[in-house]
Amino acid sequence: MLVVRNLNTYYGAVHVIKNLSLHVDKGEIVAILGANGAGKSTLMNTIAGLVSPRDGEILADGVNIKGLSPGEIISMGIALVPEGNTLFYGLSVRENLALGLAHRSLRITPSVRSMLDEALEIFPSLAGKRNVSAGSLSGGEQQMLSIARALVSRPRILLLDELSMGLAPNTTALIFSRIAEINKSMDTSILIVEQNARLALDISSRGYIMETGKVIFKGSSADLRDNPEILRSYLGGAGGKDALP
Ligand SMILES: Nc1ncnc2c1ncn2[C@@H]1O[C@H](COP(=O)(O)OP(=O)(O)OP(=O)(O)O)[C@@H](O)[C@H]1O
Ligand SMILES: [Mg+2]
Repeated sequence: MLVVRNLNTYYGAVHVIKNLSLHVDKGEIVAILGANGAGKSTLMNTIAGLVSPRDGEILADGVNIKGLSPGEIISMGIALVPEGNTLFYGLSVRENLALGLAHRSLRITPSVRSMLDEALEIFPSLAGKRNVSAGSLSGGEQQMLSIARALVSRPRILLLDELSMGLAPNTTALIFSRIAEINKSMDTSILIVEQNARLALDISSRGYIMETGKVIFKGSSADLRDNPEILRSYLGGAGGKDALP
């Protein structure tokens, strides 16, 4: 469904993604793990068209999407929830959601309005706050809104970059259970970057471990989870060294 082959991305002269290949099959949740600076966000942003790769292939259902604009890539069924907060604080929940459709330059007709409302169904706590400004939501609600904004375009592939950052453990658990639900009920394939290795490996079926722009390990999530050496050597912080018995 999503195939990345021999991808190379540079920032100026700095080679950040180095000949990287990965794939996500239909219905899968696939994790990408790796230390700070490994290039995880650069990879996600390259797939989403926000950063241009120098060479390599990115295919969605066999169609080349490399070189398309971010809006065209959303139209191809691939949506990104970027790292960090990218909401517009001064705009309402509904207005932020509408930006998930901005690539189609739609007017807010009743049918568009119902698409926006549908994206909120997975997060009932947001449904009552459609007209509230995004800046007045809690950190967890803001992350839920970022996910809902990506869902508005009804993606076949969802790219999630560090959803748990800065959130309390119980909020993170709630969001991850919703991600599993989205994967099942909406038949959405998911590529998820996460610092908390255990969390990511619990929800995914396969994983890739990145170091300095390369995939250094890949395998089933069960195998990666049971390999303390991999976790200890390559993943610091939560889920890595500190979380091991
Ligand atoms: N816009 C940019 N311009 C130049 N260099 C960048 C840019 N964004 C990231 N980098 C560099 O590219 C490398 C990879 O960064 P990236 O953000 O992809 O890593 P990451 O794995 O997502 O890290 P983190 O876990 O901290 O989010 C880092 O060395 C970073 O400093
Ligand atoms: Mg990152």
